[in-house]
Amino acid sequence: MKLKGKKILLGVTGGIAAYKSPSIVSLLKKQGAEVKVVMTEGATQFVTPLTFQTMSANAVHCDMFKAMDHMDVEHIALAKWADMIVIAPATENTIAKFAYGIADNLLSTVLQASRSKVMVVPAMNTFMLESPANRQNMATLKERGVIVTDTQRDLLACNDVGSGKMLEPAEIVDLIDFHLREKDLAEYIVTVTAGPTQEAVDPVRYLTNHSSGKMGYHLATAAAKRGAKVNLISGPTALSAPAYVNFVPVVTTQDMFDAVGAYFDETDVLIKAAAPADFKPASYSAQKVKKDSDMSSLQLVKNPDIAKHFGAKKTDQVLVGFAAESQNEIAFGRGKLEKKHLDMIVINNITAANAGFQKDVNTVTILHADGAVDEPGTMSKEELAEHILDQTLEILKAR
Ligand code: PMT
Repeated sequence: MKLKGKKILLGVTGGIAAYKSPSIVSLLKKQGAEVKVVMTEGATQFVTPLTFQTMSANAVHCDMFKAMDHMDVEHIALAKWADMIVIAPATENTIAKFAYGIADNLLSTVLQASRSKVMVVPAMNTFMLESPANRQNMATLKERGVIVTDTQRDLLACNDVGSGKMLEPAEIVDLIDFHLREKDLAEYIVTVTAGPTQEAVDPVRYLTNHSSGKMGYHLATAAAKRGAKVNLISGPTALSAPAYVNFVPVVTTQDMFDAVGAYFDETDVLIKAAAPADFKPASYSAQKVKKDSDMSSLQLVKNPDIAKHFGAKKTDQVLVGFAAESQNEIAFGRGKLEKKHLDMIVINNITAANAGFQKDVNTVTILHADGAVDEPGTMSKEELAEHILDQTLEILKAR
């Protein structure tokens, strides 16, 4: 429930992308937001007010001159109510009216009366998007502090291929979350390692492990939303690079070691959520090893322990480690906390039902260097990321 208690006023204007706007309402509601909808006359040609009324569980506002409910001046009351106004889709016409201060329907009037954050999510034909007038109007809005999002490049409804397709509802909701979050990590640079590493045996095969990167990617995304400058150093995963982070892809543990080294001095918080391969083949075969070769043994050598190396070097950085254990997890985790000079270790028993690799949830015990123990119970990795960052912020503030 990332948006619990937030009040979002969704403005819907007359473009074909309006058919996706009910999904925005649905996703916002699932995240705990209260949603009210204002539609232009054009928007009602694409989607009925009843759809939005049903999805938002609130009356939909279309008419500038209807009789007053509760004796409120409607456009002022709506403008005051919203924590954020989101126009999705935003047509060239509504963008132009907003830029020029034209208030000739309920939505454009609300926009002129607004004191809250406004996000404009354009959707239009590529040539309209790129037209000098529209570019100028979008630039004017940005200069005034309005958030104007990108569009997607795709085959458009008019059969042209190019930019102008509205962002997907999930991306829009993610941006709303980003812009409404308290920026309590704004002073800090957070470096997160995530995912597995791969150690090649030959051009075909490699050693790796089951890490999906989910835990680390949630940590990086949450830290960025909370205002931190984030470096995400990731081994190969199936996940897309999160928005708002400096994404540093790596393959081997040595690559990850080098990348952490490159960012370590500027880093305030290093979170080692990755599962780097501890060993690599002693030698790499440049040619594919044939099936009939003698492979009864594979010589391995140790990789550098990244957390241990930088734990010994740290000055005032906060170092958060993870431990993936299959037995005696608390005792082994405590050993790693001490040996690697960590400030905090997040221990998961990877054999437990709701914990460890690839799952969307995790069950952990968190040990602190000062002896504090926290058992937050099973939660989604997204929630756990926030929990870990809350505790990290406490350590930073106490320094
Ligand atoms: O990616 P997911 O599928 O979401 O799964 C999440 C996770 C289970 C991978 C994650 O929560 C986790 O536990 N990561 C640590 C995995 C691991 O390598 O544990 P470890 O006990 O072997 O290592 C202890 C710490 O040292 C870890 O912070 C690890 O990043 C670090 N380490 C380990 C080996 C190495 N060569 N260098 C390191 O820095």
